[in-house]
Amino acid sequence: MLSCSVVAQKRTTFQPEKEWPDTEGKHINAHGGGILKKGKVYYWYGENRPDAGGSMNTGISVYTSRDLMNWENRGIALSVSSDTLSPIQAGCIMERPKVVYNRKTGKYVMLFHLELKGQGYAAAQVGFAVADQPEGPFRFLRGLRPNAGLWPVDFSKNDIEEACALDPFRYSNWWTPEWREAVKKGLFLARDLKGGQMSRDMTVYVDEDGTAYHLFSSEENLTLHLAELTEDYLDYTGKYIRIAPGGQNEAPALFKRDGKYWLITSGCTGWAPNEARMYVADSLWGEWKQLPNPFVGENAKKTFNGQSTFILPYKNQGFIFMGDIWNPKSLSSSRYLWLPIQFQKDGTPVIPYREEWTLKDLMK
Ligand code: DGJ
Repeated sequence: MLSCSVVAQKRTTFQPEKEWPDTEGKHINAHGGGILKKGKVYYWYGENRPDAGGSMNTGISVYTSRDLMNWENRGIALSVSSDTLSPIQAGCIMERPKVVYNRKTGKYVMLFHLELKGQGYAAAQVGFAVADQPEGPFRFLRGLRPNAGLWPVDFSKNDIEEACALDPFRYSNWWTPEWREAVKKGLFLARDLKGGQMSRDMTVYVDEDGTAYHLFSSEENLTLHLAELTEDYLDYTGKYIRIAPGGQNEAPALFKRDGKYWLITSGCTGWAPNEARMYVADSLWGEWKQLPNPFVGENAKKTFNGQSTFILPYKNQGFIFMGDIWNPKSLSSSRYLWLPIQFQKDGTPVIPYREEWTLKDLMK
């Protein structure tokens, strides 16, 4: 009997910028995403975006693959709610989901950037959701602003006094040299101390000892915060630091290689591409030192039109940079920028562009 089903051609290479059809031939809709590996299966979670507009009417997608090139659509891992009282009601914004497995509880934990329906990007919350299976369904727990009432662990008594003395009315004009100084000293940190710190673009990183960290753009997207999560990954321990105060970093992606932590971020220009930044540290708690943009070659100053979202260690063989090439007119059709990371002799990451590549191009 003749079958009518169309079998998508198996992919054997990565092709940045191009359409990336799933196993049913539809462009993958998992933007601002991240990857979890469980057994031999990779799970790709990302924003399931509508063809037009910026708010969500579905939720967070999940796709599975064994080779990272051919992905099967497994549906919506975390659905928006039809309950109009829910923080994740249809019409909210969910961005940059990251899922981690908790060895102690046996649960899959999702953190994502949550914006409440009808409020643009003002809520600046993190959402927590949990599931028994990697493909979901994830159950939404709550949305919040982290670390209410707490100062960063490296803030001295003097730093706290200085931050508390900053009068927001004196600095109502943004971008002046005085305002920049005040931001570094904690103008917005102090402003948001009571209600919790703003949390927008984000990632989650699990270190070798199983401790998980939430890294997010805070303080009006001006300063990154790195906050330790509790053992079950469902809350904060209260221990956190600021990274690059006033540096305006978004889209954080973090990895560890040979004992060093590398952080790749973007600047803040909405959906438009900009020049990536890179930081390195011997400990997650700092000190974080800025290095030049790791992207090299033509259009490197615009990150090849992309923006970081995640860095995936592949077996013991190397690291894959994952980014998004946003199409704000139709976010669902935004493309992907996955590239192998290369390393200089001293261990510094470098990312040249490639039109097409395979896992053999990865470098330890
Ligand atoms: C830049 C962020 O990186 C994206 O995730 C998204 O929030 C856009 N800004 C919205 O303009």
